[in-house]
Amino acid sequence: MYQIIDGKKISQQIKDELKDKVSALKAEGKSICLAVIQVGSDPASSVYVGNKKKACAYIGIESLAYELPEETTQEELLELVKKLNADDKVNGILVQLPLPKQIDEEKVIQTIAPEKDVDGFNEKNVGALCVGSKGYVSCTPLGIIQLLKRSGIEIAGKHCVVIGRSNIVGKPMSLLLLRENGTVTVCHSRTQNIKELTKQADILVVAIGKPKFVDESYVKEGATVIDVGIHRDENNKLCGDVDFEKVAPHTSAITPVPGGVGPMTIAMLMYNCVSSVE
Ligand code: GUN
Repeated sequence: MYQIIDGKKISQQIKDELKDKVSALKAEGKSICLAVIQVGSDPASSVYVGNKKKACAYIGIESLAYELPEETTQEELLELVKKLNADDKVNGILVQLPLPKQIDEEKVIQTIAPEKDVDGFNEKNVGALCVGSKGYVSCTPLGIIQLLKRSGIEIAGKHCVVIGRSNIVGKPMSLLLLRENGTVTVCHSRTQNIKELTKQADILVVAIGKPKFVDESYVKEGATVIDVGIHRDENNKLCGDVDFEKVAPHTSAITPVPGGVGPMTIAMLMYNCVSSVE
């Protein structure tokens, strides 16, 4: 029998721990404020931003919402980011991605002050993760480490295979697993014989962005499988990068979609916001 890793339950535990911390900080006269910027009205982004605001309200973090029109220029967005960088009341700044095509995402990310970059996307924070010093870490991979630890899954000494090398998930994931003393292999679109590698994984993290890409032929019997994807299948039902029905019986533990990795991203964003004042 396999364990279903319950991201909903674990994220709720984390949010409740953070809520207590925020109350204690408030008693010391410290408050936390997160600025959330959305440009345009991409429906998925609107859902994510709405959930982030809700989580802030639950934990006791003030959120400032900036909803800018689709045609916002890069200069206008950079001006807002710089204004928030200089505002002492604001502890964290989050610019929801993706941004409209007239805006250079990288330029915006690198303009956010590293000490307010609660997404952990700024070069300074990525560099800190790389050399093992203090800094914000990208929320989704940080959440995956919490899922593993709080489910009693050992990382040290295990062969961890990550499919995907994005700046938001794959790269920081591989660095975090390495920091936890895993032996890490990163696979990507140019990897040859990918199944030969994934079949060696004790822990397989899938962040490839293709619905139900991973079936049982990719997985070693008894592995732990973490699914970062979220898509709609042919019946409009939510599914991940992993074909859960086919893969789950071959694992010892697996995250479902929905209710696995997804809720952890927001919990860890809240964690980063709280650590900005701690
Ligand atoms: N778009 C998809 N995931 C994320 C995320 O973690 N942070 C931001 N800012 N935008 C996203």
